[in-house]
Amino acid sequence: MDSFGDNIRQRHEHEGTFVHARVRQDEIGRIPLLRPVEQQVQIEHARRVALTVAASTCLHFERLEQFEEFFRRQRGVECDGGVQVRALRWTADRIGLVEWRQGVDANARRSTQTVDRALEICHAIAEVRTQGDTGPRLMLRHAASLQLHCAVVSAPPTLPPTLVSAPPTLPPELRSAVPGPRSHALARRLAAVESRNVTCLDPGPVFWERAAGANVWDVDGNRYVDLTAAFGVANVGHAHPRVVEAVADQADRLLHAMGDVHPADVKVALLEELARRFPGGGDCRTVLGSSGSDAVESALKTALLATGKPGVVAFKSGYHGLALGALDATWRPFFREPFSSRLPEATVFARFGDADTVLRAAHESPAEIGAVLVEPIQGRGGDRIPPHGFLTALRTLCDARGWLLIADEVYTGFGRTGRWFACDHEGVVPDLLCVGKGLASGMPLSACIGRNEVMDAWPASGGEALHTSTFLGHPPSCAAALASLAVIEEEKLVERAADTGAAALSHLRARLDATPGISDVRGQGLLIAVECEDPARSVGACARALADGVIVLASGDRGEVVSITPPLSIEPVALEHALDVVVEALCG
Ligand SMILES: Cc1ncc(COP(=O)(O)O)c(C=O)c1O
Repeated sequence: MDSFGDNIRQRHEHEGTFVHARVRQDEIGRIPLLRPVEQQVQIEHARRVALTVAASTCLHFERLEQFEEFFRRQRGVECDGGVQVRALRWTADRIGLVEWRQGVDANARRSTQTVDRALEICHAIAEVRTQGDTGPRLMLRHAASLQLHCAVVSAPPTLPPTLVSAPPTLPPELRSAVPGPRSHALARRLAAVESRNVTCLDPGPVFWERAAGANVWDVDGNRYVDLTAAFGVANVGHAHPRVVEAVADQADRLLHAMGDVHPADVKVALLEELARRFPGGGDCRTVLGSSGSDAVESALKTALLATGKPGVVAFKSGYHGLALGALDATWRPFFREPFSSRLPEATVFARFGDADTVLRAAHESPAEIGAVLVEPIQGRGGDRIPPHGFLTALRTLCDARGWLLIADEVYTGFGRTGRWFACDHEGVVPDLLCVGKGLASGMPLSACIGRNEVMDAWPASGGEALHTSTFLGHPPSCAAALASLAVIEEEKLVERAADTGAAALSHLRARLDATPGISDVRGQGLLIAVECEDPARSVGACARALADGVIVLASGDRGEVVSITPPLSIEPVALEHALDVVVEALCG
């Protein structure tokens, strides 16, 4: 076996079932020199590599070396990256893909249509091929796998866009202490220039350098599996090729517009898409923002305009952000107390999961109640899942009292809990829906969406918007959101979150249920919690898991929960391996 085949074999042995092979039956056997399992790994790997190449902006590279360097650095393909590129080039040459160029408009890469995208992929491949030689002989055997990909490409109308997907999850690989020397050095520099409250420097963080799919690499070259999706943002995986491409393409054309004066075209497309997604359908309007707090602020202002009543019932342990308006509805005294003199105190708090306490809280409110603000599942409060029927009871209560129901799905939206929105588990339609985090899979964007009857409480702008901001409708963020929504749908990430989450929960329960000191293991989709009696245990486990290459965070009012919210695209087996590391960290 040559070095490339050897490499694949070694990786497979090292990674075991982490390599997730998806291959059509008729593709197997096209590489007769390798054993079946290697064929599968190789075909899948090569296809992903080829598609990642095509999805990147390789047309901008003038020299092959530049492209290879970019490819290695950005795409997480390490030792065999150069080899793959040469194989790709060789294949393109051999099957005459260069011919495609003649029929392809130079602007094809801008198109988002499926057919044009296929042409674009061919174009990209052909472009790589024209960079130079036909590749070393050792590639001959392996080029077959790339031909398979190219064969798919050469039938443009049937090319599923899903083929451009996140790279497979690689297991942790640690090359230094965690944090390593470069992270320590950056922490020292940060200490001198950042407000002391922002980044915890003791214990120090690992500084991220790049991320792809469910993997993160730090500045010391350590590779982690990220079971947080970076605060529940990277639902489609970090740096999903389609999201990256959409951002790059949009940035190329229009980086910034005048959100509420002369807006970007892409904002319209996104708002239409969000209206289409609103639970229960109907005519909807949206106010965009940049953070989850922004979305909550918009919802609170909307509720006041629509009802004329400033009071809000929110829930104990709830988290709605830290801007002053949103902070008034955030429960934890730690966040509130230093700023209490600036808070309107227009919020009263009921017991989460108990609709009966809402009326009691409302009676105690100094301000007349206009809205109930709820996370259908509490995220930062410790991944707390209310009893089934809770949301329905809130809806009934709001209808009876003329209150608005605001669902804060900043954490739970876009597939996280195994449904598009967590409200969907009970078929409850809120009046206002706040989303953020996973909306744009890594670009700062949020939205407050509501039915027209409610949103039309806002007066039409006569040239001065009552509520806006400089970056409202930021074009690359809108483009990222559109790409992200398409990926969630096409890769069936909502269904995958439900299935992968159920399997992960069973796995965790089997390993932890009888463990002393573990008070609960719960989850809905890929929002999973392991609750410890002693917060020191959960916080310590997060640190130990990090040292073993798996990123998890503690949540809950006391940090008593190890919270598990990986990218929805993570392979079940990769997740299981990473969960075993967390279990060791909890029990070891
Ligand atoms: C449910 C919920 N609402 C609002 C927010 C605030 O979002 P941001 O931090 O983007 O302001 C968060 C953040 O974690 C959240 O989980």
